[in-house]
Amino acid sequence: MITEHEITLAQPADAAAIAVLSRDAIEQGLSWRWTERRVLRCMQDAACNVVVVRQAGALAGFAIMQYGDTEAHISLFAVQAAQRRAGLGSALLAWLETTAEVAGLSAIKLEARAGNASAKSFYLRHGFTETGLARGYYEDVEDAVRMVKRIGAAPAE
Ligand SMILES: CC(C)(COP(=O)(O)OP(=O)(O)OC[C@H]1O[C@@H](n2cnc3c(N)ncnc32)[C@H](O)[C@@H]1OP(=O)(O)O)[C@@H](O)C(=O)NCCC(=O)NCCS
Repeated sequence: MITEHEITLAQPADAAAIAVLSRDAIEQGLSWRWTERRVLRCMQDAACNVVVVRQAGALAGFAIMQYGDTEAHISLFAVQAAQRRAGLGSALLAWLETTAEVAGLSAIKLEARAGNASAKSFYLRHGFTETGLARGYYEDVEDAVRMVKRIGAAPAE
């Protein structure tokens, strides 16, 4: 059951905690690319949303989504290990989907580590489909599975 939470755009003061969560929950075994500096740069980029979910004021999860002309791309997405399976990831994803729809975009795309069964289950559960494999996508350490979800109204015939 989903517990009380708040979803907002991130503040600069969140950047360090977001970078640490990225390193620990997403980039394990890879170089740490999403440093505090890079997260801060994303916050200043008009084509990028850094979004956080908080519980009792503390960072419970975050997502980074980039906006293209017709599609959005989720670059990073994580919930703190102790707070998973409580609906927070679903709430965060719903926020991103609504925002992308309001922006008039037609799809959300992402890549997940091929061995990340929980992420695949999570995205499949939310209507994403697998579109292919990107070999060696993660520094040649691991392949990525590419996924997409169509959103918004279907284009007129
Ligand atoms: C993937 C992730 C963001 C899901 O967040 P969450 O808050 O636990 O997700 P929810 O509680 O909203 O889960 C919704 C549904 O997704 C599926 N799901 C989520 N985690 C799952 C897991 N570990 N195994 C199988 N299915 C899972 C389930 O269907 C779940 O519904 P249920 O709990 O009623 O069975 C979280 O596990 C995470 O941060 N993982 C590490 C980082 C990561 O892999 N990020 C994604 C790739 S960048």
